[in-house]
Amino acid sequence: MAYSLDRIVLLVCGAVGLVLAYSGPDLPPGPYCGINNQCCKDRQDSCSHRILDSKCYCDQFCNRTAGHDDCCPDYPSVCLGIPDPTPPPAQNVRLCKYGDDFYQIGEKVTQDCHTCECMKPPEGGDEKFVCDKDPCLLSDDVLRNVNQNRLGWRAENYTQFRGKKLKDGLIYKLGTLPLNRETARLGPINIDKDIQYPREFDARTHWRNYISPVMDQGWCGSDWAVSLATIVSDRFAIQSNGAEKVLLSPQTLLSCNLRQQQGCRGGNIDTAWMFAKNHGLVDEACFPYMAKITKCHFKKRGNLLTDRCVPVVPQRTSRYKVGPPGRLVKEHDVMFDIMQSGPVQAIMTVYQDFFHYKDGIYRRSQFGNNELKGLHSVRVVGWGEENGDKYWIVANSWGTQWGEDGYFRIARGENESGIESFVVTVLSDVTEAYLRK
Ligand SMILES: *[C@@H]1O[C@H](CO)[C@@H](O)[C@H](O)[C@H]1NC(C)=O
Ligand SMILES: *[C@@H]1O[C@H](CO)[C@@H](O)[C@H](O)[C@H]1NC(C)=O
Ligand SMILES: *[C@@H]1O[C@H](CO)[C@@H](O)[C@H](O)[C@H]1NC(C)=O
Repeated sequence: MAYSLDRIVLLVCGAVGLVLAYSGPDLPPGPYCGINNQCCKDRQDSCSHRILDSKCYCDQFCNRTAGHDDCCPDYPSVCLGIPDPTPPPAQNVRLCKYGDDFYQIGEKVTQDCHTCECMKPPEGGDEKFVCDKDPCLLSDDVLRNVNQNRLGWRAENYTQFRGKKLKDGLIYKLGTLPLNRETARLGPINIDKDIQYPREFDARTHWRNYISPVMDQGWCGSDWAVSLATIVSDRFAIQSNGAEKVLLSPQTLLSCNLRQQQGCRGGNIDTAWMFAKNHGLVDEACFPYMAKITKCHFKKRGNLLTDRCVPVVPQRTSRYKVGPPGRLVKEHDVMFDIMQSGPVQAIMTVYQDFFHYKDGIYRRSQFGNNELKGLHSVRVVGWGEENGDKYWIVANSWGTQWGEDGYFRIARGENESGIESFVVTVLSDVTEAYLRK
């Protein structure tokens, strides 16, 4: 009987001690002999399988001497009935594949905004990654369709929203709790001034340097505090003719107005206005925005001096307070109030597509998710017209990287997204600064 060339090479290599034992832990475990339960009598060179760069044998004559073992790794268990000494423990088996990697049951991976766990699916079948079903904040449906359908505004694939869920965006990028009966009672104001309204008005150019910059509320549902603080800041500057040009601190509300409020999970705007009226705010330099509830360092009945803040005019000692808020219900009244006293607060309903706004005049598109929604408090700073299309100019609080340098324009006169359903005006209390002049 002639040795096959392979076998000679193997034996020669074996003689110089270079051949690995086939039963070594690093070898692919097979099956080999187990493929057809093939165990051959005597010596049969054809009774073999390819293993790595060589061959292993399932015949009676394969050499089981340690160091010269040319038997297939499963020869002892399949052909001799010797149990495999170290069967791999079941929980160590890598079951789910993700990319180039395998994962065990219970291991998790993140895919876009979803968390996926390797598990036996509840409906049965092989182990696989099962992901949560929550919609993500960003939607390809919105991105593609809004930009293809010429709706008057464009959508952007914002990196800042990647990996976030829609339901979380509606909490942490907004922050206005549903209006309660108390809020709904806020008295409507009728101005009804029969004047010629300009086609365009922008508080930013009308009161250059008095209008506060766009803030970034971060991942914190504090729009109720941010919109209030910026509107009151603007109105302090305007009503004092620039004497009290001061940026007020939404953190005062976030940290100190805790009753009936939920901090970064949202606030009631009427409660916030009552706090601003009764206790007042300090300035941003004195209590910088932290995008979370922090300890309130101020005493209820304190003033800017006991708060250790530095007033912008020396005659001021009390905190920055407002008068009773009022509600504007007509488009022209909103316009009149802005022209007269400065930016106002509006509460709008936000659906998924709004998060994608890049530029243009926003109208809700119906693309993306149309079930989940939230309320958002924003600052209306002016209005205009583009090719006969009327709009409001509104400051958002998502930083200047979003929208039109942090602002957006939205259709005017048609209660788009409820933007005209709840508009709040207020007078900032500048009397102290004036009285003591
Ligand atoms: C197995 O290999 C060893 C070392 O080369 C040798 O001494 C022995 O005779 C071989 N046994 C058989 C059954 O071929
Ligand atoms: C948005 O960006 C993500 C990440 O780069 C990408 O996977 C996705 O395809 C983009 N969507 C669209 C509609 O361009
Ligand atoms: C404006 O829209 C909001 C919500 O979209 C709605 O609740 C409200 O009744 C509307 N207001 C008016 C005056 O139509």
